[in-house]
Amino acid sequence: MQISIYPGYDELSKAAAAVVAEVVKAKPNAVIGLATGSSPLGLYAELARLHKEEGLDFSKAASFNLDEYVGLPPEHEQSYRRFMNENLFDHINIDKKNTHVPSGTAKDYKKHCAEYEEQIRKAGGIDVQVLGIGSDGHVGFNEPGTSLGSRTHVTTLTEQTIDDNARFFEKKEDVPKFACTMGVGTVLDARKCVMVVNGKKKAKIVREAFEGPITCVCTASALQMHPDTAVFLDEEAASGLAMLDYYRWIQQNSANAPK
Ligand code: GLP
Repeated sequence: MQISIYPGYDELSKAAAAVVAEVVKAKPNAVIGLATGSSPLGLYAELARLHKEEGLDFSKAASFNLDEYVGLPPEHEQSYRRFMNENLFDHINIDKKNTHVPSGTAKDYKKHCAEYEEQIRKAGGIDVQVLGIGSDGHVGFNEPGTSLGSRTHVTTLTEQTIDDNARFFEKKEDVPKFACTMGVGTVLDARKCVMVVNGKKKAKIVREAFEGPITCVCTASALQMHPDTAVFLDEEAASGLAMLDYYRWIQQNSANAPK
């Protein structure tokens, strides 16, 4: 794992976007895994800027989102499909036909989840997966207790996640209780993972995920087993890390590290 610390949100977002942009430049038909939540908004804004100002080309790229609320149709204000259109897809030249978000209204979720996995496989697998972290340590919607080998499935959201996400809905009761999410195993299959985390309220879970035991109680901790994960933190999110000085030392010396 490569843990990097930046003075603020803008800096970490730009650094994380640069990694995604490198993947797309090296492989124009890259398959990008995408996340929702507020954390990756800066990364998406930077990708949109790179497209507009520097011609970063997504015309051959494809994308797969991590998750969707069960019960929300694509046009719903809080659906993750709508979130992705508004915050990224409408601002870059990706062909929407090549963008995939799990369905919020599937008739048969077992079938839908198996098909989602198959679509990822047929696309050649995910080249780079963007991730945030939930305050209970989830990646995607892989809540505490989810198998670290899990594949795309329907999950029951924790009360904590419902509380966290209630701010986007009129009232807490409107937050769906179920979601369809890629599994932890699906995420771990991505060739590269890029996690963005900011803010003091994430400091504790960042420490648990990256310096604690690998456990299904904090599904992000499974990334410790991933061979190419880069974690982009601001000072606040990094503030609970025991090895903080060492991570800074690595970052300072990275330009001189042997290739
Ligand atoms: C939701 C998403 C996660 C995201 C998390 C954190 O639960 N399913 O993918 O990482 O929110 O959200 P935020 O970035 O707003 O803190």
